[in-house]
Amino acid sequence: MGGRRAAGWALLVLPLLGAVSARAAPLCNVSLDSDPDLRWLPVLRRFDPWLLRHFLTRIIDEIVPKWVRAVIQPLAAELEFFIPPPFAGEIQGMCNALGLSVGDGILLNLAYEATAFCTSIVAQDYKGNIYHGRNLDYAFGDILRKITIDVQFIKNGQVAYRGTTFCGYVGLWTGQSPHKFTISGDERDGGAWWENAVAAFLNRNYPVSWLVRDTLSKSEDFQSAVFKLAGTPIIANVYYIVGGTMPKEGVVITRKREGPADIWPLDPLDGGWFRVETNYDHWTSPPPFDDRRTPAIRALNATGQHNINFDTLFQVLSVEPVLNNNTNAGLKLDKREENLMLFKTSF
Ligand SMILES: *[C@@H]1O[C@H](CO)[C@@H](O)[C@H](O)[C@H]1NC(C)=O
Ligand SMILES: *[C@@H]1O[C@H](CO)[C@@H](O)[C@H](O)[C@H]1NC(C)=O
Ligand SMILES: *[C@@H]1O[C@H](CO)[C@@H](O)[C@H](O)[C@H]1NC(C)=O
Repeated sequence: MGGRRAAGWALLVLPLLGAVSARAAPLCNVSLDSDPDLRWLPVLRRFDPWLLRHFLTRIIDEIVPKWVRAVIQPLAAELEFFIPPPFAGEIQGMCNALGLSVGDGILLNLAYEATAFCTSIVAQDYKGNIYHGRNLDYAFGDILRKITIDVQFIKNGQVAYRGTTFCGYVGLWTGQSPHKFTISGDERDGGAWWENAVAAFLNRNYPVSWLVRDTLSKSEDFQSAVFKLAGTPIIANVYYIVGGTMPKEGVVITRKREGPADIWPLDPLDGGWFRVETNYDHWTSPPPFDDRRTPAIRALNATGQHNINFDTLFQVLSVEPVLNNNTNAGLKLDKREENLMLFKTSF
């Protein structure tokens, strides 16, 4: 998957999000103090089980190639060998509750990996505050819109980290560790996505969204998050965009499966007060049929470093075609605390 699919959806005039009635995704708690196989059950209970099973099966049917099913489904018996904790137990528990096979649970988690299209922006205002915003564009909007959730992962009664994801999916493409850092992931077209991803998965590399979650749960600060996101082997190429809490803490990491291809930090003293990443390497030109980068940069230039804040960043992300036809969720950011970035989904 990747840029090639973009042809159909480049330019559609969407009203600015501000003019649309916004509906936040449901906010759910997932307790990390509960056993992995039990912790998602309260989330599942918020959905009609029949409908959920129907949605999830349709996603698998329409996205996952047949040969991938043939390769992955038998792994279910050796789940613990291929899938590290807590993901193995979480997938197992959700499948049990929904009456899905564990093999389908694994496929579902890979299926979403193959379809995430996005624009991410990290920017620094003239006072040194860091802002991080993203649009999440994906196929299957009719389904995924209905199962998008904001999740707070709770440990010892506190929010350890939070993210926006889809019900049934244990990874995160968007997340925040309070007072530490924010992460978003954007797909990087790898050509033969499934072939490469399945091979790397069998080699026990992490899916890209699991590394995001692992980083949110373990890294203590921006620097260590960047280090972990840049260096840990994963199953597909991707862009990780990371924001911190201090001036200059903003970076686009261009990933190969094995490690970093490029690290592109903010450079506010030299005019680089923002970085825009869509789904193309920043040192190349985006293809004309899917240029979301130029309009985003133009809108940021027009906004200016003096005027950048959560509201204006949200407006930039709402500019068509930055907000393109496949954009189902504009992630609105709330600034709750000093330099704290909170991702919030609104439609
Ligand atoms: C955009 O999405 C709408 C609603 O799903 C669809 O009717 C329309 O044909 C799409 N337009 C393009 C250019 O893909
Ligand atoms: C989620 O957990 C937090 C922190 O423990 C708590 O304050 C909040 O009330 C919980 N929300 C729900 C919906 O259970
Ligand atoms: C944005 O501003 C920079 C610096 O002035 C300029 O080099 C660049 O061409 C501008 N880009 C767009 C798309 O307006």
